[in-house]
Amino acid sequence: MNILLTGSWDDTERDAWAAALRAAMPGHTLWLSREGVAAEAIEAAIVANPAPGQLQGLPRLRLIQSLWAGVDRLLGDASLPAGVPIARMVDPAMNAAMAETALWAVLSLHRGFFRYARQQQQGVWQELPQRRADELHVLVLGLGQMGRTAALRLRQQGYRVSAWRRAGGDAAPEGVERLSGAPALRGALPGVDVLVNLLPLTPETRGLLDESLFAALPRGAGIVNLARGAHLDEAALLAALDSGQIGHAVLDVFQTEPLPAGHRFWGHPQVTLLPHAAAQTDLRSAAAIAAANLEALAAGRPLMNLVQPARGY
Ligand code: NAP
Ligand code: GLV
Repeated sequence: MNILLTGSWDDTERDAWAAALRAAMPGHTLWLSREGVAAEAIEAAIVANPAPGQLQGLPRLRLIQSLWAGVDRLLGDASLPAGVPIARMVDPAMNAAMAETALWAVLSLHRGFFRYARQQQQGVWQELPQRRADELHVLVLGLGQMGRTAALRLRQQGYRVSAWRRAGGDAAPEGVERLSGAPALRGALPGVDVLVNLLPLTPETRGLLDESLFAALPRGAGIVNLARGAHLDEAALLAALDSGQIGHAVLDVFQTEPLPAGHRFWGHPQVTLLPHAAAQTDLRSAAAIAAANLEALAAGRPLMNLVQPARGY
């Protein structure tokens, strides 16, 4: 099979992926550009958050395999060849990395470690009150690959954990309370100490972290956004931080990435930020997962990790 590799990355990253993918699927030809290969010859694409238009005009495309877990940008590309299955990256290594980030953020909020870091900068020696883990209620938005792993990890750490999902499906991990629907979410918010967002970005979830959600939380609650920048109203969060309604925010994703120089988040004392690094795709495991799906396509076997475009994730 002729496979196109394309994405939003620099040449070094692309070449590392190409080497790993070629090693994982030696029977296929991987193209790093559309020059030199006829559009009709390309049967599959492996993509990393490609800019709109990169997959336009490929009439025999049979699979788009994403190296990213989130496919919101891909699904928003109006030029995508119609009806081609899209598979997203589902990798236990990535889930584990996300759970580590969620645990670090919640633990740091719980124990005041971000405040201690600031106190150190200021030369302040001041103990903060210490609460037990089981006195904190953590709400995880999303109970999918990442939300489930994070919720379990937080539960194991001793927190009281609830997780919000769209519908029925699998039970929540043991000890995690499962919530579904807008009324259940609104009902839970007044008791939540830390809210961790691990939802996919869809028309329903865009802008969910807004002024009304912040107002429904108890004063001083923590916000951890590890999913997508467009889930969060940045101006509303800044207002809630400035008023003390939100005590601290841990942010990995932003409306504009990289976060523009001069953005108020950079220097805000109640914001801890990461450069969209909460869970990177692990090249070693992900190349094998992508290759397995390409082999399934070549052999006519069922494809894995398919996205449902109608629901947006
Ligand atoms: P996933 O397995 O598809 O899980 C999505 C979860 O969200 C599911 O539990 C789903 O509910 C729930 N959900 C979707 N729409 C909802 C709605 N309207 N109301 C309530 N719940 C809703 O996704 P994932 O692999 O966990 O990844 C989640 C997101 O993390 C990705 O889409 C991506 O944006 C982000 N991400 C970020 C990074 C990073 O480094 N910052 C890395 C990877 C991924 P059901 O269970 O009922 O379907
Ligand atoms: C990263 O944000 C991903 O979706 O994999």
